[in-house]
Amino acid sequence: MSAETGIENISTILVIGAGTMGRQIAMTAALGGFATIIQDISADGLAAARTELEGWAASRVAKGKLEQAKATAALEALGYSTDLDSVATKADFIIEAATERLDIKTQIFEKLGVLAPAHAILATNSSTLGSSKVAEVTGRPAQVCNMHFFNPALVMKCVEVVRHETTSDATVETTMELARRLGKEPVLINREVPGFIANRLMGAIQREALFLAEEGIASIEDIDTTARTALGHPMGPFALMDLVGLDVIDFIAQATHAETGAVEDAPNERIAALVAEGKLGRKSGAGFYDYKG
Ligand code: CAA
Repeated sequence: MSAETGIENISTILVIGAGTMGRQIAMTAALGGFATIIQDISADGLAAARTELEGWAASRVAKGKLEQAKATAALEALGYSTDLDSVATKADFIIEAATERLDIKTQIFEKLGVLAPAHAILATNSSTLGSSKVAEVTGRPAQVCNMHFFNPALVMKCVEVVRHETTSDATVETTMELARRLGKEPVLINREVPGFIANRLMGAIQREALFLAEEGIASIEDIDTTARTALGHPMGPFALMDLVGLDVIDFIAQATHAETGAVEDAPNERIAALVAEGKLGRKSGAGFYDYKG
């Protein structure tokens, strides 16, 4: 097969990382009819992913939103592995959703460059690291791009496809088409910019929301209510930050600020303090709101 991989060459998808994003991206791929492997170095992480996905599928079936046969087929299409070396050789398309650390991602992409079939496209779900940072180590930079999903990935329609300077047109087209086959509405970002589209928009709203709360102009509850009832947002900015994870929000700000140096991109002190207290949002039981009750 040539490096010009088309959608017709994709039958097996590998998702690296079984965290919040990776597990739902993998289920999305399995529901799209692809043989899908989730790889994570943690067996416990894989077990937790399997439990969540089986529970999710059962509840969709119970609600009448997913046919039992489709749920069963998707769960059967999912494979789980802790061994990246053995599964990387089987994948036609790889979506890396591992920890947001450049050293970890670089190691993974270096390995993928050696192990993955020559035709395979290597995408990263990273929201902060442009794929140019890991493209060269793969030895096939034209087949590398960002394919950025949104939380919760089984629900949100958007996928940001971000090309770096040498990403080929074929890679972009195949990645966009794959997103469509997964029931998503991909958007194309023509050059790397910190935050891509969605996190830039979200960051602007969050900045204003934090300013209004910090100045005592309104409570976080009323700011969230306004976003919902005046602007039609599905959830307010504080509830959304809790959903995404305050550690993730803080990390995005740090990474963006390191790149732009702009005052408005600087990490927020209140968020950093909550993270230091272990209040990471929904996943830890508390953030701006309390979820323990
Ligand atoms: N996993 C899977 N499915 C979920 C889910 C989850 N964590 N949470 C909700 N859902 C599903 C529900 O099952 C339900 O499905 P059906 O309607 O088909 O039955 C549907 O989503 C709606 O859920 P609810 O009725 O419980 O609640 P809701 O109507 O308030 O929707 C929401 C929940 C989808 C999260 C909605 O509030 C929403 O769209 N919020 C905004 C989310 C958002 O902006 N995400 C982007 C974050 S930024 C990011 O991810 C990028 C980054 O780089 C940080």
